[in-house]
Amino acid sequence: MSNDIRIGVFVCDCGTNIAGVVDVPQLVEYAKGLENVVFADEGRWSCSVDYLARMKDSIQEHNLNRVVISACTPRTHEPLFKRTAKEAGINPYLLEFVSIREQVSWVHMKEPDIATEKAKDLVKMGVAKAELLEEGEEIRLPVKTDCLIIGGGMAGMNAALSVAHQGFNAILVEKEPRLGGILNEICFISHDNHKTPAVKVVQAKVDQVQSHPNIKVYTDTSIDTVEGYIGNYKVSLSANGDGSRSSLDISTIIVATGMKELEPEGQFEFGNDPRVVTQLQLDHMLKNKRVGNLNNVVMISCVNSKNETRGCCNIGCHTSVKNAVALKHLRKDVDVHILYRDMSLIKEEGSAQRTAKHLGVKFWRFPDDRYPEVVKKNGDLVVTVYDFLVGREFKISTDLLVLTTAFKGNDTVEQIKGHLKVSTNSGGFFQESHVKLGPLEFATDGVSLAGCAKAPMAFKESSEEGIGAAMRASIPMKRGYIEAEGIVADIDLTDCNQCGLCSKRCPYSAITVDEEKNPEVVKALCKGCGLCAADCPKECIGIVHYSDDQVFAQVEAALEQDAGKKIIAYVCHWCALGGVDMAGVSRLQYPSNARLIRVMCSARVSMKMMQRPLELGAAGVLVAGCEFPTCHYITGNYAAEKRLNRAKRKLAKAGHDPEKLWNVWCSAADGPKFANTMRTMVKELDLE
Ligand code: FES
Repeated sequence: MSNDIRIGVFVCDCGTNIAGVVDVPQLVEYAKGLENVVFADEGRWSCSVDYLARMKDSIQEHNLNRVVISACTPRTHEPLFKRTAKEAGINPYLLEFVSIREQVSWVHMKEPDIATEKAKDLVKMGVAKAELLEEGEEIRLPVKTDCLIIGGGMAGMNAALSVAHQGFNAILVEKEPRLGGILNEICFISHDNHKTPAVKVVQAKVDQVQSHPNIKVYTDTSIDTVEGYIGNYKVSLSANGDGSRSSLDISTIIVATGMKELEPEGQFEFGNDPRVVTQLQLDHMLKNKRVGNLNNVVMISCVNSKNETRGCCNIGCHTSVKNAVALKHLRKDVDVHILYRDMSLIKEEGSAQRTAKHLGVKFWRFPDDRYPEVVKKNGDLVVTVYDFLVGREFKISTDLLVLTTAFKGNDTVEQIKGHLKVSTNSGGFFQESHVKLGPLEFATDGVSLAGCAKAPMAFKESSEEGIGAAMRASIPMKRGYIEAEGIVADIDLTDCNQCGLCSKRCPYSAITVDEEKNPEVVKALCKGCGLCAADCPKECIGIVHYSDDQVFAQVEAALEQDAGKKIIAYVCHWCALGGVDMAGVSRLQYPSNARLIRVMCSARVSMKMMQRPLELGAAGVLVAGCEFPTCHYITGNYAAEKRLNRAKRKLAKAGHDPEKLWNVWCSAADGPKFANTMRTMVKELDLE
């Protein structure tokens, strides 16, 4: 590549999405005037096949060696433009993406002049970074055909079968003595197959698994250690009984560890009165036909779910209706009452409620803020429920009260999380990489996720997820290799004082220390979060595409004019940028003061990055990351939060107002939270 920097800026109209607000011709002219920009162009739909072809021609015709795309959001379109750059002969790491739709035209719709000025700043920042970009390369790792499936429930068994049917080797490890998971504990799978006990469905699947020549099953076995990375995992197992050990060479891993019921703590007399049980306990009773003495059964839905700490449990309505129907089939004369807040049944299950009603099950809808109450009266259990539809209270005596409780991930979640360096969420389940951009997979390459380890789900969905996760695992096994993103840490040992902090801090154990105590990055393990670079006291660590120099160039470009009115907002690529994008998609209007700088994780934002904008006169600095505990780099946001607290003290000592340093942790769906933070910051910092 020539040492001459020749930058091309491609500005998208996005139909009228951008051009309806931002003065794109003016922006293109502005870009042409920036240093090292030799070409700038306006595209009506830049992601269209026609325009991409034109872009390739322009790159070649003008001999461009850097590209700045000024368009929608990198979260959806960056890979497409990187591919185009590569096809035109440019290393894709020499491309920078500037978001002027989600961050500008959609959120400043009523202020076209201000929006155009902000877009100019963002393009200027993109060009400043592009000047310093360096070539990078994907890391190619060989992948063989052995897949470990952790968890032998329905999702795990289906995953194993799907992997095996494709000719790969499936190694299925289950901690319990038998396969089947939670299905071993329930009576029927759904309301309409009460003639086929769940145990039969499980056994049929177990038979298929055990007779498949490509599947090896370990039951009653724990995972002791997992080391390595995609294509090269070393896994050690131990038998729960005699402790005998085995070690495996594995290429890919599927996590299907299932879930367990979250037992209520003393609520509704649970634990105090044996007549109060959970749905799973009722399942046991139905399975063993121990319901002969019942006359009146009451079920209460949404116990410990759909509240401030947990969302909908997804399967409570399905389970209560299924068990009510099973009960009626066993004991026609028993009265069954379902007390619910909302009945959320998927389409096929709509008939379940009709069937239940037909069999005489009574449904009572109570208000969200008025749960039923349970009292013991002369030894009887009496439930008081306010019927929302009738508008008055009723009392129902019951000889079995069934609580439809929330679920949480299985007991092994924390242990597996530690082994695989993957994320979990506040519900105690594993957290997939991204619901739309990375379903069924973790940020860790080669590890996929299926079934109730992710969230409570019914039989059909969980079974299908097992197949889906197997397909994810099969892609690199079929191809024989994987190309991992080249955004990784790079250590320059010149000033390294061998403190070993980087190695200790890395959430992926991707930095090893050699005999001379020199740190070394295992590139196949590094995810490029930047935590090590931000914490290195000697500033020896760079992150490809997110180096200190590149970030500072963006900061300086943003603050060249009117610094006192601007906020530098460091935003993690995952949830925080997702929240920013969601604010845009929702057309939430907020003040235009922020100039966003994308980093892979909030952990990348060093103290210097927080301090530098204030030295240049910025009105404020914002660090935005994923809400706890869901950082896409396991614990990056925790590290960022600790650093923020330290930074406030340091800023105060350096004579800066620590109140100018803000942070927000939001989910990818939390557009309003980001927009509100901007409004509040602007107000509190007196920028209105
Ligand atoms: Fe969002 Fe770490 S990826 S804070």
